[in-house]
Amino acid sequence: MNSMKPSKITIIGTGYVGLVTGTCFAQVGHRVVCVDSDISKVKMLQAGGIPIYEPGLEEMVKENVASGRLSFTNSTKEGVEKSDIIFIAVPTPAQPDGGVDLSFIEAVAREIAAHMTSYKIVVDKSTVPVKTGDKVAETIKRYSKSKVEFDVVSNPEFLREGFAVEDLMKPDRVVIGTRSQRPVQAMKEVYTPFGAPIIVTDINSAELIKHAANSFLALKISYINAVATICEASGANIEEVANGIGMDNRIGRRFLNAGIGFGGSCFPKDLSAFIKISEQLGYDFGLLKEVQRINSQQMERFLKKITETLWVIKDKKIGVLGLAFKQNTDDVRMSPAIDLCQRLLKDGATLRVYDPQGMEKAKSLLPKTVTFVTDMNKVAEGCDALIIATEWPVFKTLDLDHARKTMSHPILFDGRNLFDPVEMEKLGFIYKSVGR
Ligand code: UGA
Repeated sequence: MNSMKPSKITIIGTGYVGLVTGTCFAQVGHRVVCVDSDISKVKMLQAGGIPIYEPGLEEMVKENVASGRLSFTNSTKEGVEKSDIIFIAVPTPAQPDGGVDLSFIEAVAREIAAHMTSYKIVVDKSTVPVKTGDKVAETIKRYSKSKVEFDVVSNPEFLREGFAVEDLMKPDRVVIGTRSQRPVQAMKEVYTPFGAPIIVTDINSAELIKHAANSFLALKISYINAVATICEASGANIEEVANGIGMDNRIGRRFLNAGIGFGGSCFPKDLSAFIKISEQLGYDFGLLKEVQRINSQQMERFLKKITETLWVIKDKKIGVLGLAFKQNTDDVRMSPAIDLCQRLLKDGATLRVYDPQGMEKAKSLLPKTVTFVTDMNKVAEGCDALIIATEWPVFKTLDLDHARKTMSHPILFDGRNLFDPVEMEKLGFIYKSVGR
């Protein structure tokens, strides 16, 4: 790490990906400028605060700002002038038809073009449809005033929210997609300190790797959820089946946890985008449509379990543990847990909810009638049923004795299979989980 050559890097967009990427680059010794158009966000970051919950990130931002390796600005001009490598990490939101809105990417490409006065490597970090890199190159060429040379590189990000720092510092692989050899050495220098295998591909392949990887992971989850349905119908146990399948190295145990389905700002959006792009390229990706169908059916099946047990939802008091779309994050966007709450509210339930990090963000998505409980052990008090909707490991330490004694009825719906069915029945719960 000591013999590394520090690179001069600018990151445009300080959302999840941009902020974590910039900070980790600074952590290994590069000199990083992060640009964001939101001035209040820039001020917050300059003062050492961070707008998201991500384990380990805040300390790292502070340390690198103090060392002078990491700085924040709202001037793209400054960002472009100060660095040799410009990463684009702006949002690529979904459009109503499943396509991707690339207007932020296009706007940044134009801005870079306007301020470029020497050779730059423009790296796309945002998740984009295949062939976007070529459009970015065309745009920069069209809008640059002088005939400055540049290369466009696709360098997709594979970090998971909640484990972002860990994933960035120790990636499984780094993908560098480019049409020319010129930016390869500089890109390798950026990533050498991370010690991961680097693969160099053409730009279209790099863009496809991202959508294909996320879609495959989503497929793995839908596959195990479909197998869970068969487990329930046949009396088998999905945990045992997943362990047995996962021990085959060709398959692997990770992402084989059955539950109430996947959510978040990546899988649902990327699946729709990949289906859409495939359609535009003349292929009907029916397999991925089925992945989506199984995912929404999984929620329906869980709700059916709840209504079959409680019979009428109206006027039932229900406790919900978990609001974030998964553990270790405060992100509630496209969260299956929020979807579940909204469905129960629509049927007339009264809700008492808790999440270790997602409460504040969930308040804007749920009505005022919902009770936000600050102690996870108090959520079940007086409830007709308790639901676990997010796989936070801390829920495994729930005071089950207290829950059973204080609930009107000790009924537990475990949407993430955190507890052992035999143990739960021994403790006196009516316990329903997924696929066992
Ligand atoms: C996902 C990918 O895992 C990252 O590699 C990728 O970089 C990121 O999308 C992105 O495109 O930016 P993320 O959405 O942060 O990361 O979260 P995951 O840990 O992948 O979980 C996604 C959803 O799948 C969650 O709702 C989670 O509860 C669910 N899940 C995950 C399951 O239901 N079962 C599993 O076995 C694993």
